Amino acid sequence: MHNLLKGKRGIIFGALDPNSIAWKVAQRCHQEGAAFTLTNAPVAMRLGAINDLAKECNAQVIPADATLMPDLENLFSKSMEVLGGKIDFVLHSIGMSPNVRKNKPYTDIDYDFYHKTLDISAMSLHKTLQTAMKLDAMNEWGSVVALTYIAAQRVFPDYNDMADAKSVLESITRSFGYHYGKAKKVRVNTISQSPTKTTAGSGVKGFDGFFNYAEMMSPLGNASAEACANYCVSLFSDLTKMVTMQNLFHDGGFSFTGVSREVMEKFSS
Ligand SMILES: NC(=O)c1ccc[n+]([C@@H]2O[C@H](COP(=O)([O-])OP(=O)(O)OC[C@H]3O[C@@H](n4cnc5c(N)ncnc54)[C@H](O)[C@@H]3O)[C@@H](O)[C@H]2O)c1
Repeated sequence: MHNLLKGKRGIIFGALDPNSIAWKVAQRCHQEGAAFTLTNAPVAMRLGAINDLAKECNAQVIPADATLMPDLENLFSKSMEVLGGKIDFVLHSIGMSPNVRKNKPYTDIDYDFYHKTLDISAMSLHKTLQTAMKLDAMNEWGSVVALTYIAAQRVFPDYNDMADAKSVLESITRSFGYHYGKAKKVRVNTISQSPTKTTAGSGVKGFDGFFNYAEMMSPLGNASAEACANYCVSLFSDLTKMVTMQNLFHDGGFSFTGVSREVMEKFSS
C-alpha cells in the first residue's frame, strides 16, 4: 500500500453487501490511510452488513436517504464532526429503478417509478453536491466520484430508464463540476464501469448475457469491482488533481472496441 489517501477524510455512499462496488472502495480507501464515514438509505441498513464493514474500516455509519436534503445535511455535518474537519472525497455509488425491479418494459414504464429512478440514481448527485457546497463542507482540490454505465451513450435495451438516469448523472457531473471547480477547486467525475456482479447489476434483465458479451468484446476483459476501487483511489488522491468534469471509462477497452475476433467468430459461417 502507498498511503495515497493518508490524512484525507471521505464519505462513501452505497455499500450494501460485500459484492457492492462501494464496499471494495471503502476497503481500499482504508488500506490507503483515509478516514471516512459510511452511509446508505435507512432501508438498506436493515440488512446490517454495513456494520461489519464499518468495524473493519474503523468507520462510523450515518444513515441517509440520498434523495432527502435534511438527511444529506445531517450526513455532511455529522461527518465533519466525526472526522474532525472538511471532506476531501465523496463516492456516489447509488442506483435503483423501480421500473427495472418490477420488470416494466421501457415502452410501458410507470411515471411515478420513473421519477424515483431519476431522483435516486441521478438527482441525488446534484443534491449531494449542492448540500456540500452550501455547508462549505469540501476542502479545496476535493474529489467527488459517481459511478455510471455506458448505457448513457449507447442503447442496452433492458437497462431501461436507468440509461436516462445515467445520462442525467453524467450531465450533472459536467455542469456541477464547472461550478464547484470555479468556486472551490472541487473536482467531479464519473467512472463508467464494466458490468459487475452486484445486487444492482444483477437486477437488470439479461445481465449474464451482457456481462459475457462485454467480457468477450473487451481486449482486457471486464473490469472487476476491485479494479474499480483502485481507480477510485487514484481519483481521490492528489495524483489526479487536474481531472474534472470527465466521464472516465473503466471497462477494459469495451467502449472503443467495434468488434472483437472472439465475437466475430461466433457469427462466421
Ligand atoms: N454492477 C454493475 O454492473 C454496474 C456497472 C456500472 C455502474 N454501476 C453503478 O455502480 C453503482 C453501485 O452499484 P452496485 O453495482 O455496487 O450495486 P449495489 O446494489 O451494491 O449498490 C447500489 C446502492 O444504492 C443504494 N441506494 C438505493 N437507493 C438509495 C437511496 N435512496 N439513498 C441512498 N442509497 C441508496 C443501495 O442501498 C445500494 O447500496 C450504481 O450507481 C450502479 O449503477 C454498476
